[in-house]
Amino acid sequence: MKMQELKIGKFTARLPIVQGGMSVRNSMSPLAAAVSNAGGIGVIGASAIDNDLLRADIQNCRRLVAQARGIVAVNIMYAIKRFTETVMLCINEGVDLIFQGAGFSREIYKLVEGTNTEVVSIVSSAKAGLLAERCGASAVVVEGAEAGGHLGTDRSINEIFPEVRGAVKSIPVLAAGGIIDGYDIARYLKMGADGVQMATRFVCSEECSAPLAYKQMYINSRQEDIVEMYSPVGMPGRAIRNKLIREIESGTVEFEGCKSQCLRECSRKYCISDRLLKAMDGDVDNGLVFSGANAWKLKDILPAAEIMQNLVREVESVPE
Ligand SMILES: Cc1cc2nc3c(=O)[nH]c(=O)nc-3n(C[C@H](O)[C@H](O)[C@H](O)COP(=O)(O)O)c2cc1C
Repeated sequence: MKMQELKIGKFTARLPIVQGGMSVRNSMSPLAAAVSNAGGIGVIGASAIDNDLLRADIQNCRRLVAQARGIVAVNIMYAIKRFTETVMLCINEGVDLIFQGAGFSREIYKLVEGTNTEVVSIVSSAKAGLLAERCGASAVVVEGAEAGGHLGTDRSINEIFPEVRGAVKSIPVLAAGGIIDGYDIARYLKMGADGVQMATRFVCSEECSAPLAYKQMYINSRQEDIVEMYSPVGMPGRAIRNKLIREIESGTVEFEGCKSQCLRECSRKYCISDRLLKAMDGDVDNGLVFSGANAWKLKDILPAAEIMQNLVREVESVPE
């Protein structure tokens, strides 16, 4: 089957494939720009990085995509304390699209009014999809329980997607969670998706900023290693079982103090920023390795452009 371009508000991507934003520091400008330059939409993960780094990264992404006129997009979690400040930084830097996940903000639609920036809301129910549409979202991403990172639902994308697709009429509806290859993409396009958002596949790209040890955790994982876990954010998360997850499960995990005051609400059972950063520094035993449910299917680390080419080839091999 042939893929259609994806129009989100005034922005058009040649391919309806979004690389989901990943924090802390997994999806930075090298990955986001590579995906946008390949015709999709690459997304910088903004949560828990400081303003100067984020500003420089957005500017670098804009430079890298300038020739191909690629889209510059940023993901911001509502759960972070500096949510409004981060949205304003993105607007001032002329970011094209803000993907807003991990909670729902009505405020963001007011903040972007009269600017060039448009909002894509990540939702996990038809009710939230309709609310986003009514508030002014330019698209919604429907995320099911197969996704990596924080989860807004325990229901499969296969159950939720048709409900949101049936409810949301006037803006594009994208599917996310567990989509790992072009055959998965084709399935959701046939179900009426305007596009898909994928993150786990792009962790195993050359441009993803995670260290090799992190990517190897994905490649070496077995299906049963990828589990739902407790996060101090107040939503469950999905990650690869390691020493840290076993400590969380047994209630022996240590809280080493709050350094960054990053969350609106935090249970303080452990510091999630610290643990995500530990994994990004290569300590994949004590660090938190977020991952989607299908990471175990990955066998290789490829340049993002090659991943995109493979996805296109696989979708096109599926009959209409
Ligand atoms: C390592 C990792 C970090 C993530 N961080 C965020 C984030 O900061 N904000 C967010 O809205 N979603 C985050 N997600 C969710 C993804 O953007 C995406 O929607 C989801 O993982 C899609 O499922 P898949 O990974 O199976 O493709 C993260 C996912 C992963 C794997």
